[in-house]
Amino acid sequence: MVPETRGTWASEKEKEVVARVDVGGWAVSSVGRVVWLIQWMAASLTEGRKPPSPSHVLLSDACVCSEENEMASQDIVTFCKVDIVTPSQKLLAKQMTCDVVPGKSLLVTGPNGSGKTSIFRILRGLWPIGSGRLMKPCHSVFYVPQRPYTCPGTLRDQIIYPFSHDEAKLRMTTMVRTGHNFLLDDHLTVILERVRLVYLLEREGWDAIANWEEVLSLGEQQRLGVARLFFHHPKFGILDECTNAISVDVEEHLYHLAKEMGITVITSSQRPALVPYHAMELTLVDGRGKWVLCELSQ
Ligand SMILES: Nc1ncnc2c1ncn2[C@@H]1O[C@H](COP(=O)(O)OP(=O)(O)OP(=O)(O)O)[C@@H](O)[C@H]1O
Ligand SMILES: [Mg+2]
Repeated sequence: MVPETRGTWASEKEKEVVARVDVGGWAVSSVGRVVWLIQWMAASLTEGRKPPSPSHVLLSDACVCSEENEMASQDIVTFCKVDIVTPSQKLLAKQMTCDVVPGKSLLVTGPNGSGKTSIFRILRGLWPIGSGRLMKPCHSVFYVPQRPYTCPGTLRDQIIYPFSHDEAKLRMTTMVRTGHNFLLDDHLTVILERVRLVYLLEREGWDAIANWEEVLSLGEQQRLGVARLFFHHPKFGILDECTNAISVDVEEHLYHLAKEMGITVITSSQRPALVPYHAMELTLVDGRGKWVLCELSQ
């Protein structure tokens, strides 16, 4: 488990850097380090301003050594009396308290600007928490934003990101040990079939390099984001409006598959069609602190 700390906000510029490595989650500790480094450099250039505390970085490092943390085995995302506050000190959610346990997915709803994405920024370590305590597993949390980062490279690279080709092949050998005797490209083909993108493989092949952000529609990029989620197969998927450009029937199919795969999701969405795939709904009522948590009948 990773206890989140109070720290400093990542600015728009910093977020741009973070977006470049848009991580999908596995590299949160690296992002923490990048953010801290930029803050440190910026502070060093500003006369009289003390560099931010590196405690954020130390905690990120602690997360890497999760085996030494007695809470590391707990698979739970916990917000305990967390204040969600913007960099301009606007309180979006006051003392938010919520546990997300495996099998009990959480839907985050609320009007535009109420703070849904801000919760994800906090989960990703881009924003500090105002007060309270946030715990999440060190590993097996994967983030999918509304517009997934398209990395330079092949179609295969888009699915396995942030893994390299070699790391992805190594991952396959682990799966062989667990009884799934797959070659990487066969496995990726199955995933493309699941996200209904196998026509892209027929059109582009595995090894063509393209500017995928320009070549692919937003709906296709979002389906690739879900393909990435399926490839990495985490325990928790943090999904911020990441299917809102996908037609509702395919979106429902993808959520159905995620559930079948045992991925517990924290979703930000305005679509009622997603309600059946979640056990709880957290509504940010007014973007001024009020929130409501309720159980959903599944
Ligand atoms: N870097 C920032 N500095 C100051 N305020 C910010 C910053 N980023 C977001 N906000 C403000 O925080 C509030 C919540 O934004 P957020 O993106 O979390 O809303 P949202 O609920 O996700 O909205 P939407 O439904 O449009 O996606 C908004 O009023 C927004 O303007
Ligand atoms: Mg949002």
